[in-house]
Formats: sequence, structure tokens, C-alpha cells
Amino acid sequence: MIQLTSVENERALLREELIEGLRQPQKKLPSKYFYDEIGSTLFEEICHLREYYPTRTEIGILRDNIGEIAAHIGPDCLLIEYGSGASVKIRLLLDHLERIAAYVPIDISGEHLLAATEELGREYSQLRIFPVPADYTQDFDLPEIDVRHERNVIFFPGSTIGNFTPADARVFLSHIAEVAGKDGGLLIGVDLKKDVTVLHAAYNDSKGVTADFNLNMLVRLNREFDADFDLDAFRHSAVWNAHHGRIEMHLVSLREQSVRVDGERLHFRRGESILTEYSYKYGLEQFAAVAAPYFRVEKVWTDDRRWFSVQYLSCVSRAR
Ligand code: AVJ
Repeated sequence: MIQLTSVENERALLREELIEGLRQPQKKLPSKYFYDEIGSTLFEEICHLREYYPTRTEIGILRDNIGEIAAHIGPDCLLIEYGSGASVKIRLLLDHLERIAAYVPIDISGEHLLAATEELGREYSQLRIFPVPADYTQDFDLPEIDVRHERNVIFFPGSTIGNFTPADARVFLSHIAEVAGKDGGLLIGVDLKKDVTVLHAAYNDSKGVTADFNLNMLVRLNREFDADFDLDAFRHSAVWNAHHGRIEMHLVSLREQSVRVDGERLHFRRGESILTEYSYKYGLEQFAAVAAPYFRVEKVWTDDRRWFSVQYLSCVSRAR
């Protein structure tokens, strides 16, 4: 009963968030809404695309430096992953960190999380795994974990931090710092500024997988909130916003039209768009400054082209 109320409550909150975003002068949908089961699968497909360099580059950096990374993290950590996919990244850590006290994967897509952790549980039968199906951008509870550990280390790969504005990223990092606690650490993937043609190709792939991923938001609204978006009347667009230093993903209305979402009427001018995602690209100093009130950058690893970075940050202890 209590369970049911909270599920209903969550749906009501999400509805408010979605409708409010769609009523702004620049219509918006939250990026986390990408990741239902279909969206999570499409995202994995994106990660394998030739044009989408972040995943491959980050895995290369992790692989090339795993010994040093493990040394920075140290033994007996409680490893907490934000946004765990079905990734090879975590396996690199599980294979090389010294004595992991427990692994806590957090993901917004419950189905996806459980399938991925079942698989991991088979592969790593000694590992204690405590999956948390949650939206980590909201308050969530960590499970009681009665396993002795030296420190909490958060693993936040993929440059998902780029989905926040720098101001919001700072607030989010303050929450991570609280979860990490004293002596805690953060191993984070941060995508770097680079040639715009490389960025453009990565977010406008030739197979159109990113377009499907973007349009899936509307598919999802149609299914979950009784919306009537005509999928042929919107087009995917990803553009570099030089002023803000970010890629923006939009869904552009191809004609003037009105759309119903859960009983609400929305009007679109021809060419008007819904902003679905920011993907900020950082300079190293710029990122260090964003994190500075809460974290000190201990070490930065990059690839030869300096396209992507993996960074180990330690919690700055602050007087309360
Ligand atoms: C997982 C949020 C880091 O911004 O590159 C991939 C998501 N969007 N292609 C990114 C994404 C379009 C990805 N993040």
C-alpha cells in the first residue's frame, strides 16, 4: 500500500516536471527521461558507434591507467556507481581494485539495473552487490551496508556530469560529496573541448541511432502520458552552442501543430524545438573550478588526443 502511494506520487512529480518543462518559452524535457528500457538499449548502441568517441576513449583511458587508478582509490572501498549501464567500465574496476567491500550500482532504469546486476553477480560471485533503482538526481537512500570499509568511492563515468549546467553540476557534486563522506573519493569521466566537427559527428551519427534515441522521448510520452506526438512531424537536431560550450539536442517541430500530453494542449510553431539535453564539454581548469568547493582534483588521465578525461577527486573536508 505504502509502495503504491509512492509510485503514484513519483508519477505525479514526473508529470509536473514534464508539463512544466513543455510550458517554458524554450520547451524542455529532462535528459533522464531518455532512459526507459528502449532508451537505455539505444544508448548502448550509441556507445558502439564509430562516431561516438566518448565511450571508447574513456574505456581506453581506464584500461591504460588502471593500476594507477586502483592505487589512488586504495583497498577496501565501498564502490558506488551512478548510472550503471551494462558496462565494461565497471568490470575493469572490479578486476583491479584491491578488496572491494561492496558494490552499489544506482540506475534510473530498474529493469536494466536488475538484468545488469544479475549478470555481474554470476561473474563476480564473491562480490557483495546492493543495487539501488533510483533517480540519483533526486534524494535517494543508500541501503544499510554492514560491511567494514575504508572509504566511499563514487564512480560516475561517461561524462554524464556534462548534462548539468556548470552551476547545477556544482550543486550535484555537493550531493556526491555528502554521499562520499570523509576521506571519500570520486572517479569521474569528463568530456573535453575539441574540434566541433568531431562533436557534431558524435551527436548526429550517420545511422540515425542518436535521432531514434532523441525521438524515443516522444514515443515514451505517447505511451506513458497518453500524448499524441506525430513522430514524423519532429526531427532530431544536435548543435554546438559555442557561447555555453555545450552540445544541445533538440526535437524540432516540422510544422505548426498542437499536441496533447495527459490532457494538456501544447502548441508548436513550425521550427520550434524541445530542448532534450545539454552535453557540456570542459577545459581541465574549468572543471576543477566547478568542483573546487567540494573536491580536490588529485589526478587527471587523458587519451593522446586529449579528447576525454578520467579524474580522481578527493573530498575536501569542510567545517559545517
Ligand atoms: C551519457 C549524457 C554523457 O551527453 O554524450 C549520447 C548521452 N546523448 N548521445 C552524452 C548522449 C547523445 C551522453 N551522456
